[in-house]
Amino acid sequence: MSMRPTGKILVLAGVGLVVTVIVGFVMAVVLISWFSNPPFGLGNAPPQPIAFPHTVHAGLPADGGMGIQCEFCHRNVTKGEAATVPAVEQCLFCHITVGGSTESAIAEISLLRETTEDGDPLPINWERVHRLPDHVRFVHEAHIRFFTAPDPNIIRTLINGEETTEPLTVQQTCTVCHGEVAAMSVVKPKAGQSLKMGTCLDCHRENNVPTDCTVCHK
Ligand code: HEC
Ligand code: HEC
Ligand code: HEC
Ligand code: HEC
Ligand code: HEC
Repeated sequence: MSMRPTGKILVLAGVGLVVTVIVGFVMAVVLISWFSNPPFGLGNAPPQPIAFPHTVHAGLPADGGMGIQCEFCHRNVTKGEAATVPAVEQCLFCHITVGGSTESAIAEISLLRETTEDGDPLPINWERVHRLPDHVRFVHEAHIRFFTAPDPNIIRTLINGEETTEPLTVQQTCTVCHGEVAAMSVVKPKAGQSLKMGTCLDCHRENNVPTDCTVCHK
């Protein structure tokens, strides 16, 4: 069966409309996912359910802190992908007895204690400060292992292009990507640095790490 020219035009117009709708839909999805899940480093400090200061806990005693090591709380950071944030029980280990010495400390610590009011502690819903899109894979362990390896023959290039054969400490390694968290009363992304794909790729190239798409994309 043959079609008359007007029929063909109508079919083509129909196909054009369908393509426009599909392209529009894909663009909307991309835009929505971009804004609801902003790339690493672009976000600012989100409001947290409890004002937890890194200064008091991780800051050095000379600066009025307790000098607790990063990996004491972020226990998975030297072991796997996610660094992880400590469970309430770990906070209560101290805060069952430590109630705070200033008005604001007492108020925030009582919020922490309230999580156990009904028996088992309720988890605290900390807001994420850094978050990559779901299609990207990041592994803390590999990065900490490389920069802290005791081997003095490894040349390690940091984000600012500085080279060192000295192994870094765990905390110095965190600083490369996150800045001086121990000196932050509120965690924010490192100033002036967006860990976008370009930053990941630059550092991988400089340290001879593979840059195939599948290293980072699932
Ligand atoms: C006493 C436990 C404790 C110690 C010690 C600690 N942290 Fe944290 N950290 C937390 C908690 C709780 C959060 C979630 C609340 C927040 O973001 O402030 C957090 C959040 C973070 C975040 C932001 C996570 C995100 O959502 O992107 C980074 C980065 C971080 N810590 C790095 C460090 C570094 C680096 C050190 C060592 C200098 C350290 N932390 C020491 C408890 C701790
Ligand atoms: C090793 C013990 C220890 C652990 C573990 C610990 N804290 Fe603390 N925290 C302290 C001490 C000591 C203070 C200082 C209290 C004061 O004198 O005001 C403090 C202070 C605080 C304050 C008040 C800060 C201020 O000055 O406003 C908050 C909020 C707090 N901690 C939350 C947490 C949370 C949440 C966790 C778990 C992620 C946690 N702490 C884990 C010992 C600890
Ligand atoms: C090479 C850069 C890099 C280094 C080094 C690094 N981080 Fe991260 N960190 C990231 C990225 C990227 C994310 C976001 C990961 C995601 O969304 O999957 C992140 C997320 C986090 C988070 C929140 C999510 C989670 O994984 O639990 C915490 C807490 C954290 N880092 C702590 C640390 C600590 C502590 C250290 C040092 C021991 C450290 N990071 C070293 C890049 C780094
Ligand atoms: C400061 C330098 C640096 C930055 C920035 C960096 N990386 Fe890496 N990355 C490395 C090094 C070095 C290794 C290799 C570690 C080893 O030898 O196993 C690595 C390895 C990896 C691996 C392989 C882990 C494994 O063993 O399976 C992944 C995935 C990865 N990086 C993702 C990322 C992503 C995503 C970003 C950006 C958000 C990023 N990296 C930023 C230095 C960096
Ligand atoms: C070292 C890690 C790494 C490697 C290797 C890498 N990417 Fe990425 N890529 C990222 C990160 C992190 C993001 C998210 C942040 C951003 O958009 O810059 C991203 C985002 C993207 C996006 C944007 C998606 C969006 O959400 O807008 C595309 C497209 C992409 N990558 C394609 C590729 C291709 C193609 C390759 C191989 C040639 C590749 N990437 C290799 C880390 C990597």
